[in-house]
Amino acid sequence: MMQRLLRPRSYFAPCRPSQSSPGSAMFRAVSSASLLLLVATVGAHAGGDPALGKKVFNRCIACHEAATDRDKVGPHLMGVVGRTAGTAESFLGHYSEGMKSAGAAGLVWDEANLAEYLRAPKLKVPGNKMAFGGLSNDDDIANVIAYLKADPKP
Ligand code: HEC
Repeated sequence: MMQRLLRPRSYFAPCRPSQSSPGSAMFRAVSSASLLLLVATVGAHAGGDPALGKKVFNRCIACHEAATDRDKVGPHLMGVVGRTAGTAESFLGHYSEGMKSAGAAGLVWDEANLAEYLRAPKLKVPGNKMAFGGLSNDDDIANVIAYLKADPKP
């Protein structure tokens, strides 16, 4: 799918306007419909889908709130995208040394860092105490980040 998108010329080739038989008009309609579908799918893939991410967040919800600033076992995640690691004010007394020093060393939860953390929490922030093995599916990761980024409210 990505590969096709990266080679738009070959993908567009069949619908050049110079081909005008009824058959190719039909083909043109079909292929622009599937192109729309392709763009929609890839768009959701690349940017993540907050609605799907809300479902993924069910795997976090035992330990995190994202729609309120209430802390659980883990810090609340409201506004976490763009926040420096280990700096949610209300959770300052509870972070691990690992998480606090990652933040002190400059780790900011931008989308790329969040994606790496959610894939492999222990690798990204050694010594952190989040008891979660990580998400293995890239779509789940992109979607849950989109959800967090949408600054979800109840
Ligand atoms: C079993 C409980 C648990 C689960 C499940 C869990 N977390 Fe955490 N999470 C924590 C704890 C505890 C911390 C604080 C870690 C530390 O201080 O070392 C944390 C930290 C974080 C941080 C860093 C926050 C900050 O303020 O720096 C993010 C981001 C995060 N979790 C996202 C998630 C997401 C997204 C999920 C679900 C895919 C998830 N977590 C699942 C317990 C959990």
